[in-house]
Amino acid sequence: MRRFILSSSLFAASALCLLPAWGEAPQKVVEIASVDDLVAEINAKVELLGQQVASADAFAMTLEKKEVNQAAGVVACIAQAIVEHPDKAKAKFHAADLRDAAVSLRAAKTFDDATKLFAAVKESHAGKSAGTAKPDAEWNKLTGLGRMMEEVNSRSAGIRKSLRRLQKPDETARDCTTLAILALAMEVDTHEVKDKAQLPLWKELSVKYRSEMIAMAKAVRAKDTAKANEHFTAANAACSQCHEKIRDKDK
Ligand code: HEC
Repeated sequence: MRRFILSSSLFAASALCLLPAWGEAPQKVVEIASVDDLVAEINAKVELLGQQVASADAFAMTLEKKEVNQAAGVVACIAQAIVEHPDKAKAKFHAADLRDAAVSLRAAKTFDDATKLFAAVKESHAGKSAGTAKPDAEWNKLTGLGRMMEEVNSRSAGIRKSLRRLQKPDETARDCTTLAILALAMEVDTHEVKDKAQLPLWKELSVKYRSEMIAMAKAVRAKDTAKANEHFTAANAACSQCHEKIRDKDK
């Protein structure tokens, strides 16, 4: 009996090690982006959200494509990246509070809701929140996969354009690192993988996509367009492979 308890608790302990580490991204955020870049990205998205909820008409126009949900999902992911960043003190706001406010805003269905929930986002972003939110968060709950894909798609189009003539390398590099952060959420949001035997492939392609974007950001900053293009092509191959082999498997 004793032996049984011992071996079953050993089994439980080893099973725990196999579980993903909830509350922490699958790669250290410090290897992906600086807090300055993360803050710049959040500033841009909070400004965009401000425009989206500036009037009832403006908000109505965002509904079809769930654009508020999309932008707020990016804020939530980036804010969590700041929470987990060793230089988080450089941000002048409580990133965990901002993350929770952004997650709440994602669900806004009416202009009234959006106005109220955005006010909380703005307050946190201005550093006026209480700082009471927990640092831990589940990366697969910060944004929705469909909205994330829309963000990935439109940013990729922007990156493709800017590669033709690299005028603002720092901005383009920030696009790449933002996509790499979103790919952290991609890796752990496996709910679309219906055939569980494909879980390793999902992980492999998300990691591949992320590492290509991290390498691409470096090449862009060094103004090495040829290298940047190589990484961009490799990243896009991961998109197509994942769509063909996993998303459209039974189609
Ligand atoms: C690891 C797998 C994976 C990778 C990598 C991936 N995708 Fe996707 N993509 C999916 C899945 C799964 C869906 C379906 C999501 C849903 O419907 O909620 C999807 C959906 C989409 C959609 C439709 C979004 C919508 O409104 O439902 C677009 C556009 C898209 N992906 C673009 C891209 C681009 C561009 C890239 C690379 C730059 C990429 N994806 C990389 C798995 C992936």
